[in-house]
Amino acid sequence: MRKRSVRDLDVAGKRVLVREDFNVPMQDGQIADETRITAALPTIRYLLNQGAAVILISHLGRPRGRIDPGMSLRPVAERLAELLGCPVSLAPPGAGEDVEAMARQLRPGDVLLLENVRFQPEEEANDEDFARSLARLGDLYVNDAFGSAHRAHASTEGIAHFLPSATGLLMERELTALSGALQDPRRPLAALIGGAKISSKIGVLENLLSVADEFLIGGGMANTFLLARGMEVGASLIELEAVHVAREFLEQARRQSAPVYLPVDVIVAERVAVDAETKVVPASAVAEGWRIVDIGPETVRRFGDVLRRAGTVIWNGPMGVFEIPAFSEGTRALARILAESPADVIVGGGDSVAAVEQAGLADDMAHISTGGGASLEFLEGRELPGVAALDDMEGAA
Ligand code: 3PG
Repeated sequence: MRKRSVRDLDVAGKRVLVREDFNVPMQDGQIADETRITAALPTIRYLLNQGAAVILISHLGRPRGRIDPGMSLRPVAERLAELLGCPVSLAPPGAGEDVEAMARQLRPGDVLLLENVRFQPEEEANDEDFARSLARLGDLYVNDAFGSAHRAHASTEGIAHFLPSATGLLMERELTALSGALQDPRRPLAALIGGAKISSKIGVLENLLSVADEFLIGGGMANTFLLARGMEVGASLIELEAVHVAREFLEQARRQSAPVYLPVDVIVAERVAVDAETKVVPASAVAEGWRIVDIGPETVRRFGDVLRRAGTVIWNGPMGVFEIPAFSEGTRALARILAESPADVIVGGGDSVAAVEQAGLADDMAHISTGGGASLEFLEGRELPGVAALDDMEGAA
């Protein structure tokens, strides 16, 4: 059922609690990538323009219920103030009387950011009393933290039971793009799935079996698929215990007449290191002691042919050991092909998003998800607790 949107709420003169995902990468106390902050701006600006006071809630990192000054949201408050062009106060940790007093003083147009909500152990425990004390800070609750929607925590799930609630504009955009690709894609729908391990992607592959027309598999997980097709993969990363999982998937795809494309050539290295010697070999001829670190040029060409004629592409996971530039060319080449293709390209998951962004191609894709784990769980067909808890459209006040 469609969820109520922030646009359906009467927010003027109200204090609106907004769960954001400001869990941004930090380096030496500086924000290393502000994509998640800029993605949150439309909802915040919308609320301020409508005459609301805004109380933002987020986590940063995994402080495990303890106050850790290194994981303070202060840098986020400062950057937000610059981006919004208005002051953003940072509350002390928790949701006690001091924070309640700050919240009560807010006027329309004011912005308050709560301190890292995971400084409280009650957050991850989804403690009901803590959720209630968060709810007491405002009149309405908006969840715009798609990246955290797979977590059933007090500020993502519990709180929604105590206030009228709605999705934010980013959450709405994510859900529309991802569910559109799964429920009503332009065909053919190609699933381009990579990453290190089958075990973390098999849920996605199995769920996509009922909807995708063809599969392209790369990255470390492709090694186990090659093994399942009877090829030797030298010293490459493999999951022996998942060979039968790969075999079953291939068998089921065959029964459904969904082609599964695996690498036909690969880049191999003696070591997974920046200075390692590399060469291109057929996927069927990986010598003992060599490791597959990327897809080869012929695979890029063949995958490219499939991707160019796709109507929709769901891409999750890199094609090689992407962190090492010498092993990232396969991933980058496919990103370039997708950027030029007329297909609706939905990119979900940390590394494939990083690849697209580093290549400066983000604007050429139909949708780049801000969620890593959340988009993975969505593509697995699982219900996201942070979405499920929000008020449905029907019966909306
Ligand atoms: C993410 O970055 O995937 C979200 O912010 C969730 O963070 P978590 O994995 O620490 O819950």
